[in-house]
Amino acid sequence: MSERPDTPSDRQTDERTDERTDERTDEQTDEQSMAGRTVLVTGASDGIGAESARTLAGLGATVLVTGRSAEKLRPVAEAVGTEPLVADFARLDDVRRLAADVAERVESIDVLMNNAGGTFAPSRRTHDGHEPNFQINHLAPFLLTNLLRPQLAAAGSSLVVNTSSIGNLAGKIVLDDLDYEHRRAMEFPAYGTGKLMNILFTRGISQRWSGDGICAVAVHPGPVASSFGRDSWFVGLLYRTPLKRFGTITVEDGAAPLIALAVHGPDPEIDGRYFSRFTIDGRENKQAHDQALIDGLWERSAQLVGLE
Ligand SMILES: NC(=O)c1ccc[n+]([C@@H]2O[C@H](COP(=O)([O-])OP(=O)(O)OC[C@H]3O[C@@H](n4cnc5c(N)ncnc54)[C@H](OP(=O)(O)O)[C@@H]3O)[C@@H](O)[C@H]2O)c1
Repeated sequence: MSERPDTPSDRQTDERTDERTDERTDEQTDEQSMAGRTVLVTGASDGIGAESARTLAGLGATVLVTGRSAEKLRPVAEAVGTEPLVADFARLDDVRRLAADVAERVESIDVLMNNAGGTFAPSRRTHDGHEPNFQINHLAPFLLTNLLRPQLAAAGSSLVVNTSSIGNLAGKIVLDDLDYEHRRAMEFPAYGTGKLMNILFTRGISQRWSGDGICAVAVHPGPVASSFGRDSWFVGLLYRTPLKRFGTITVEDGAAPLIALAVHGPDPEIDGRYFSRFTIDGRENKQAHDQALIDGLWERSAQLVGLE
């Protein structure tokens, strides 16, 4: 971990730089800063999820990892000292089973890292009949987080870290057309819509669950040269051609803000906020603070996954 997230007070003046550097050094040198804390990382079979899981386990956390392939997840699970928990987020029943598996293993969760996601062809449909960018990036983590609310509450004070994206700027939420049945669906805007939903969901958690001591943040990790966008020609153009030298950062650098937030833990000052890497209040879509959308998305999502 090389940095910690900015809090609002950090932004007041640059004169505090020395103090911040001291605080960072304290965090860096505390090699067991996550001892006694339980972290669940989704999308831990690859990219920044795998890196976060390994690093947080190295800092002493008890780490649970999920992925859609047991085989691919196994090396990470072994590295963090656990069993792979398998769930394909394109199947909501897998998510329900995953929540039950987690509840069997741990009584409380200090940090839930909703990180699984990516870009998917919007012409496809998931097992549950939804547009895949909507289900895999939003609906499945929405369901998982709701089902794990008792474990998050049991920690007394806990943090949900939702991996969002700068792509949220390209998104557009239409509550009556969450599955893109009545408008043209293009991959990047559909992905951006899912990532915008991550921010609205973050605000929803912050507004609804603070009585349980549950805080939430959303974070853009940066343009990470992971397996992200593996099936997307558009993302591939930037990430897997010589152009990537100019536009991408390493997986280690991409995971750093997620890890920093997990180590920082629950904090009312950051609750409900969106980070662009380490900077609080990154650039957001104008829909990101629309209260009717925050509530509407929560209610529709709950109906769609059968929580009401
Ligand atoms: N890389 C970037 O530039 C970037 C930028 C902004 C935001 N993000 C976000 O960061 C998060 C992590 O991405 P990454 O860069 O680490 O990409 P990655 O290397 O492709 O990792 C994505 C993870 O999500 C899992 N996943 C994908 N589809 C799934 C499904 N249907 N069910 C369950 N798990 C699924 C993958 O599992 P498999 O290993 O089985 O594929 C993998 O573990 C994503 O939410 C992504 O949207 C990435």
